Amino acid sequence: MAEPGRQPAQSAAGEPAWHHTAVVYEVYLRSFADGNGDGVGDIAGLRAHLPYLRDLGVDAIWLTPWYRSPMADGGYDVADYRDIDPLFGTLGDAEALVTEAHEHDLRIIVDIVPNHCSSQHPWFAAALAAPPGSAERARFWFRPGRGSAGELPPNDWQSMFGGPAWTRVTEPDGRPGEWYLHLYAAEQPDLNWDNPEVRAEFEDILRFWLDRGVDGFRIDVADCLVKDPELPDAAGLPPGVRRPWEDQDGLHDLYRTWRRLIDSYPGERVFIGELWISPLSRLQPYLLGDQLHTAFNFGFLTAPWEAGPLRGVIDTTLGSIGPAAPWVLSNHDVTRHVTRYGRVETARVWMATERVATDLTLGNRRARAALLLSLALPGSSYLYQGEELGLWEVEDIPDGLIADPIYERTGHRVRGRDGCRVPLPWAAQTPGFGFGPPDGAAPWLPQPADWRRLAADAQAADPGSMLALYRAALRARAGRAGLADDTLSWLDFPDGVLAFRRAGGFACVVNLTGEPVRLPPDHELVLASGPLDGPLLPPDTAAWLTISDG
Ligand code: NOJ
Repeated sequence: MAEPGRQPAQSAAGEPAWHHTAVVYEVYLRSFADGNGDGVGDIAGLRAHLPYLRDLGVDAIWLTPWYRSPMADGGYDVADYRDIDPLFGTLGDAEALVTEAHEHDLRIIVDIVPNHCSSQHPWFAAALAAPPGSAERARFWFRPGRGSAGELPPNDWQSMFGGPAWTRVTEPDGRPGEWYLHLYAAEQPDLNWDNPEVRAEFEDILRFWLDRGVDGFRIDVADCLVKDPELPDAAGLPPGVRRPWEDQDGLHDLYRTWRRLIDSYPGERVFIGELWISPLSRLQPYLLGDQLHTAFNFGFLTAPWEAGPLRGVIDTTLGSIGPAAPWVLSNHDVTRHVTRYGRVETARVWMATERVATDLTLGNRRARAALLLSLALPGSSYLYQGEELGLWEVEDIPDGLIADPIYERTGHRVRGRDGCRVPLPWAAQTPGFGFGPPDGAAPWLPQPADWRRLAADAQAADPGSMLALYRAALRARAGRAGLADDTLSWLDFPDGVLAFRRAGGFACVVNLTGEPVRLPPDHELVLASGPLDGPLLPPDTAAWLTISDG
């Protein structure tokens, strides 16, 4: 029997559910590998690198959106949910990828984008052509404006990308008309999830991909689908009070329906939610076992590199929601953690508006320690492509090349997220560092020249490289049955040290004190994130040990 309020750690057969302990690798498709030489990553490039991911030791791949899209937000603006964008390949390529990944024992999670579609989706075109009050407009959030002539937005909501969350349309007769809601870019109109037609359409889309063998979905903006239908102003709400577009009660029934749908398919297929809600404990209702399987643990990602807050997040996670919320250090929306951890403000994950002094050597050392910390905790981990190469945030992308809509929507004040989306370096001696074929177009964003030494082939043979650490850690983790359960007990160490024991005498010690720390006398070293100084663990270093189980 599972503890109340906690998701069962075991599948019906008594085995741990795969997603409970999995390591999932996020592929940001357009920056992973370019197979056809157009400078943009694609399915062919990913298929060619499946052996790399298998050898890295991950269990599953989460792919960012590959659907037909005008790419106003890198594919998070979907024009056709049942087809692949030609930039990435064909539906046949997608099907082949799923088959081949399974042959490599890799599961495939695709990204579903239900909060909004593209302004070029046929539904939105139909809504623009139809009059106010029509069934076509009822699939979205169209409202008359405020002010004497409707010239003001219907409420004060702001787009997450900057500027108002409403755009006024020109009616078919040429007059300025209603406004529509978009929590993100104007090219991403929000769908109205109170409309049964929207619900039915997405159930059909989920089936479309489940029928093609995908192992689950990462749900984009999973906390915002349902809105308070009154659309009240939000500016006066005190911090900590949920906004009228997030975490609404109606979401739970929606995800219960989705859960029944996915459970009707064979295999353990999963939903992972993207919910940027805090405190973390607010995730708990979604993870009770009848809704989402997991949801990203952004509290870990946003914690500073300090022992107290990190331990706080770990305790909150394990105490309130259990290990159902995977540990995450980076993704395609936040500053890469090698860079974050090299700064004074290590908790600042959002795109900087200005350049901040960064010590990449320090950041690299901490990133290595953070890897061992996250992989030693009960639960699963999500890795972001390129973190295994130690890539840093690229902060000097020329203005004219910035593609993130945040840049335009903030009047160029915020440069956005492209710095963590720079195409991967695969081969040190090849043009574009092997991102695409040698005679292909240059990668869609320029790579720093210094990434030559970070190229995957340069690191593969170096036992001290970040790639070697990831491979060794994933191998060591996979071999330890004791890590499959969710027990953790803290060990008695000086303040500033995170030290805990798992089953089977396995222990992890992370030194955040700034001073060397003595390891316990009777231990065997499994793996360290950096060189040890005899029995001393240097600052910003982590070690995996076996200690006697007493
Ligand atoms: C979250 C995605 O991760 C991000 O990249 C995207 O811009 C927004 N959702 C809007 O879809």
